Amino acid sequence: MITEHRNISLRPYNTFGIDVNAHLMLEYDNAGDLAEIFATRRPAKFLHIGGGSNLLFTRDYDGLLLHCTARGIETVREDGTSIDIRVEAGKVWDELVAECVAHGWTGAENLSLIPGEVGASAVQNIGAYGAEVKDLIVEVGTFDTTTGQRRTIPVGECGYAYRESRFKHERHLIVTHVTYRLSKTFKPDLSYGHLATMFQGKEDSLTPAALRDAVIAIRRDKLPDPAVTGNAGSFFMNPVVSEEKYKELAAAYPAIPSYKAPGGVKIPAGWLIEQCGWRGRSLGRAAVHSRQALVLVNLGGATADEITRLARAIIDDVKDRFGITLKAEVNFV
Ligand code: EPU
Repeated sequence: MITEHRNISLRPYNTFGIDVNAHLMLEYDNAGDLAEIFATRRPAKFLHIGGGSNLLFTRDYDGLLLHCTARGIETVREDGTSIDIRVEAGKVWDELVAECVAHGWTGAENLSLIPGEVGASAVQNIGAYGAEVKDLIVEVGTFDTTTGQRRTIPVGECGYAYRESRFKHERHLIVTHVTYRLSKTFKPDLSYGHLATMFQGKEDSLTPAALRDAVIAIRRDKLPDPAVTGNAGSFFMNPVVSEEKYKELAAAYPAIPSYKAPGGVKIPAGWLIEQCGWRGRSLGRAAVHSRQALVLVNLGGATADEITRLARAIIDDVKDRFGITLKAEVNFV
């Protein structure tokens, strides 16, 4: 079924709580509806949204906005050690994680409470606490808006890297479903220091549910709840710099945190922003979260302009001080 909304406020559809309008939004509950939508409407411009947790609407949207409400889960393969589940794009990601934990299907616990939906998990390659969703993905089902064909793409052809995938660039591909492989044997990932500390000496109590609860507790402590304070999680990506650049920085700032990453050294953007004195500061009704400087928040009624101005000021300061240009994680629309 296709539900049509005309001239609606997008405020409930973006976690930043930006109040802009869309001329037309279609919600569909079956991936098969996409063929009909594109064949009959032939939109010149469209945007497919998920939970709206990685978007900054800068103006009213005048194209066709699409949202999938299909949430089905189907087992497509299972043996004694693992299970493959095919999940429709509109399933809320954290509900899926909760269901996996309840069934004893493990591997997704570290990605608990990440806002958004299954479709976006595959587009963004969501990641947290040492885990990335690409490591759970088997294949991604897509609808190609240019050909009207559906195609299943194996994970190796999805172009995955840190917060990166081909779906971020090939916008004509709409993710219709994702097949994930979960393990029936619990192999907890405690590579994130804070998690390791939480379970030190308490290894016996380490179950998938306990790990999920610990991740949820860390997130609730550091990250603002979008239901209360508008935000889109990390506003910037963590920059990866060359070994050479890192050595230069480490000489000037011995306390600089860093992680090895493909192609160089990853520096937490939150640290760079905090060093520039931005943590907890505001500009108009936009602010830098006081517990995590990588997160920009809407103090109430902020416009996208106010948030953009704050983001620019941060980018400029980080560039001036460290010679690193931060890139937004959030998509500007
Ligand atoms: N830090 C500071 N000040 C801050 C924030 C961070 O100094 O205000 C430094 C600290 O040294 C800290 C380090 O940065 O140890 C890393 O911080 P944190 O563990 O909070 O993680 P992050 O690198 O800032 C990334 C993801 C988060 C994810 C966490 C945990 C990106 C862009 N963000 O943040 O993802 O939850 O790791 O794994 O990679 C999101 O994408 O929306 C998101 C929240």
